[in-house]
Amino acid sequence: MTQAQRRALVMLLPRYGLPYEERRIDLAQVFGRDARRVLDIGFGDGEALVTTAAHHPDIDYVGVEIHEPGIGHLLLLLERAGLDNVRVVPRDAVDVIEQMLGDASFDAVNLFFPDPWPKKRHHKRRLVQPDFLRQCARILKEGGLMHVATDWANYAEHTREAFGTAPETFEALTEDDLDGNPLAFRPPTKFERRGQRLGHDVVDLYFRRLPSARGSEAR
Ligand SMILES: C[S@@+](CC[C@H](N)C(=O)[O-])C[C@H]1O[C@@H](n2cnc3c(N)ncnc32)[C@H](O)[C@@H]1O
Repeated sequence: MTQAQRRALVMLLPRYGLPYEERRIDLAQVFGRDARRVLDIGFGDGEALVTTAAHHPDIDYVGVEIHEPGIGHLLLLLERAGLDNVRVVPRDAVDVIEQMLGDASFDAVNLFFPDPWPKKRHHKRRLVQPDFLRQCARILKEGGLMHVATDWANYAEHTREAFGTAPETFEALTEDDLDGNPLAFRPPTKFERRGQRLGHDVVDLYFRRLPSARGSEAR
């Protein structure tokens, strides 16, 4: 971690950070408005998140990351860009979603280039798992978008299979279905460029949160 990143964690986290809490938080109160909201899980160095937030000042973004240098990097970018529509939770996304984020509180959830865990015996460590998808469905509004990008062919397959186990909750969309939806905007990310240098194909997968059947809200 650079000195500047370390300093940012001390000086800027109080301004842009949301401390982890084991209770549901009121995001309209946090942002001081009731705008559309996007959750970015594992934003890495934050470059793509800041670019996206700068393009869409009318949308609020919550970024969750565990890698401190990346969080420091994002904080410096936020300060430089003077953005006020991004907040950061420095904690494992599984805990944050389960404990802090309320039902139907997001219009979109982004998971860009999640750690691939390529060995078969490590696949259970991948973030995309049926329980994780149930939690993502819970925090998404009906009609909300889940966007997963990966440069690992096997992770794309794994993701399609996992979503395929919840056909009553999510339906797969094609790029044509998105029709310029600003919530699907994704600038190039650091790990995307890395994947491309390695000759990997990048796949973007989109899923729509279906309306819940009455009395069977996703839990
Ligand atoms: C391969 S990197 C991709 C980063 C970024 N999205 C990009 O495309 O450049 C995966 C990121 O997810 C973060 N991460 C992994 N597991 C996480 C978790 N459970 N909660 C929050 N962040 C996580 C890692 O620290 C890492 O920064």
